[in-house]
Amino acid sequence: MKVLSVVGARPQLVKLAPIAAAFAGTDHQHVIVHTGQHYDADLSDVFFSGLGIPDPDVHLGVGSGSHGVQTGAVLAAMDKVLADERPDWVLVYGDTNSTVAGALSAVKMHLPVAHLEAGLRSFNRRMPEEHNRVLTDHCADLLLAPTEEAVRHLANEGLSERTRLAGDVMVDICLRIRDAVLAGEHPAPALPEGIDPDEPFLLATLHRPDNTDDPARLAAIVESLAALPVPVALLAHPRLVARAEEHGIKLTQGSVHTSRPLPYAGLVAAVMASSGVVTDSGGLQKETFLLERACTTIRPETEWVETLEGGWNVLAPNPHEMAADEWAKLATRPAPSTERGTPYGDGTAARRVVELLEEAHRG
Ligand code: UD1
Repeated sequence: MKVLSVVGARPQLVKLAPIAAAFAGTDHQHVIVHTGQHYDADLSDVFFSGLGIPDPDVHLGVGSGSHGVQTGAVLAAMDKVLADERPDWVLVYGDTNSTVAGALSAVKMHLPVAHLEAGLRSFNRRMPEEHNRVLTDHCADLLLAPTEEAVRHLANEGLSERTRLAGDVMVDICLRIRDAVLAGEHPAPALPEGIDPDEPFLLATLHRPDNTDDPARLAAIVESLAALPVPVALLAHPRLVARAEEHGIKLTQGSVHTSRPLPYAGLVAAVMASSGVVTDSGGLQKETFLLERACTTIRPETEWVETLEGGWNVLAPNPHEMAADEWAKLATRPAPSTERGTPYGDGTAARRVVELLEEAHRG
């Protein structure tokens, strides 16, 4: 069986790592196509080297652009790749522009498509990711759902027959790296200057267009972080840096200390060293849950609803509209002591994905 993975953005490289490792132990051929949606070394190369992923077989080099330009560039470039490779499966990951373009290009070439992390829904039509995941699910042949909740969403949309519960491959990689960090196999993470890893600090990230692209909102959120009573290590995504510069918003202010994004092992180690996380990232909400820290999410909703149970994750869509002491109390609360269960699976999802692809390929 020949499987062609289409990836392009940072979270997809994290998911690719356990999948590539699972294929490495089989006779199947695994071809990696990098669209080039993310191209900065700290959003792309460090994930290949740091997570032991083989170099991409094909690099499309599409880069940044508006949604139409970026998605269209991937679509246009994929035709030749798929015609040359003729894989048995095109495997697409998550919900980025690279995901929907990869899926659509394969469908147009009559190639079977599998969607990893199928069935997630925010029901927020303002999010580009929501269009991407709904469209990808409806054009894919095999829907690899990470959770029971995702299975239910797909059933509600009439997609049960194509759906299989695979578990979440991010658990595989997150727990593997956690164990390596605990075993001292990774150097201490490069935290922003001004953060003492031996003292309580919060780890923060912010990159959703809804939070970064409106200058007044971005300024207010950064001020809310700056006013917190503990130091905040803000790992700044290039989109955040670009928007802040454009609008003259200073990111390093008050409690906030800023640095570039971390490689994956550094991020896991930083979460483990932190007293809690404030974020609008999907992946980080789940990683924080898996690493047993409290997460505060600056969004009105989450796709990862399981993290909300027992208060491990709390939504705070508008921290700047909360009373300062309430916001501080929420963001700095300790991790709950409630049992969490394993809603995302047991860390063997990548192997299950390979089995499900084999099974569906045999027909
Ligand atoms: C993308 C995904 C989002 C995912 C995120 C993870 C879409 C619609 N969005 O958002 O779902 O959560 O990746 O990081 O696919 N830039 C750089 N260097 C890079 C890449 C981007 O400087 O290597 C800057 C550019 O200014 C670019 C901006 O970041 O315009 C946004 O990049 P883009 O890939 O369009 O979206 P993300 O915000 O990264």
